[in-house]
Amino acid sequence: MVEAVRPSLALGAFAGEAAGAGSATAPVLNTRALSVTAGRRPLLREIDLRIDAGSICALLGPSGVGKTTLLKCFNRLIDLTPGLSLEGDVRIGGRSVLGREVDVDQLRSRVGMLFQQPVVFPRSVYENVLFGLRRVRRAVPKREWPGRVEAVLRQVSLWDEVADRLSSAAAELSVGQQQRLCLARTLALEPEVLLMDEPTSALDPASTAAIEQLVLSLAGRTTVLWVTHDPEQARRIAGCIVHMESRDGAGCVGACESLKDGSLCELGSAEKEVTG
Ligand SMILES: Nc1ncnc2c1ncn2[C@@H]1O[C@H](COP(=O)(O)OP(=O)(O)O)[C@@H](O)[C@H]1O
Ligand SMILES: [Mg+2]
Repeated sequence: MVEAVRPSLALGAFAGEAAGAGSATAPVLNTRALSVTAGRRPLLREIDLRIDAGSICALLGPSGVGKTTLLKCFNRLIDLTPGLSLEGDVRIGGRSVLGREVDVDQLRSRVGMLFQQPVVFPRSVYENVLFGLRRVRRAVPKREWPGRVEAVLRQVSLWDEVADRLSSAAAELSVGQQQRLCLARTLALEPEVLLMDEPTSALDPASTAAIEQLVLSLAGRTTVLWVTHDPEQARRIAGCIVHMESRDGAGCVGACESLKDGSLCELGSAEKEVTG
């Protein structure tokens, strides 16, 4: 067992990078024989999954089956959980993301994640949106920051609610507003992949609708993996559904279901692996 599989290629050629920031291309996500264990206990076993570029994919499955664990493999948040080890490979745009040489800050700027509970920083609304932009090495000139902040707040239908209190503490917003703020902070980095872990389960209907609308608008441009417990929500937002189930005590993918053209998830990735 190894802590992280060494990739054959570094992340340098991650989709979109060659063309420069701002010209992101939605990449294919795939895993090959991905297993995660905690000590001797298997959490995920031999997951072979492929999600086509630009798909809006819902991830459904019972509590504890490993949905969050699977998401965390795509942006290496799994590294921050001590005691877990990985086998197999996780690829984005045909490149492994698991190697030690992969710049995880860059990776996480391209593979955004939204959690069940909003995680706002103890700063102003404006500073929260800029938080990632200030940190990642992507050249967005300072003069463009106010415009970028307004654009992403409009994208998540929050601008009208916060335009006159951009310098107020983000913690003063309602939970639904905070979650939309977190989404705006992620979108400010123009992610090519968006991982969403039950992002609306704690929210009011208006915030839920705003987030669903936004994600629908990303179809074809961003690859989205959205964990939900709500099959109706999955059918509203998703072009395809990955159904996870537990087998012999470990999470695995039971079935992939495609609902709309332009979105596709499939079991098994080896034959159709992207090599570029
Ligand atoms: N750091 C960890 N150490 C040991 N077991 C863990 C750890 N994180 C999660 N698990 C276990 O892995 C399983 C899958 O967890 P999780 O991915 O959170 O499931 P889901 O998101 O589908 O509810 C659960 O049984 C959980 O208890
Ligand atoms: Mg979870």
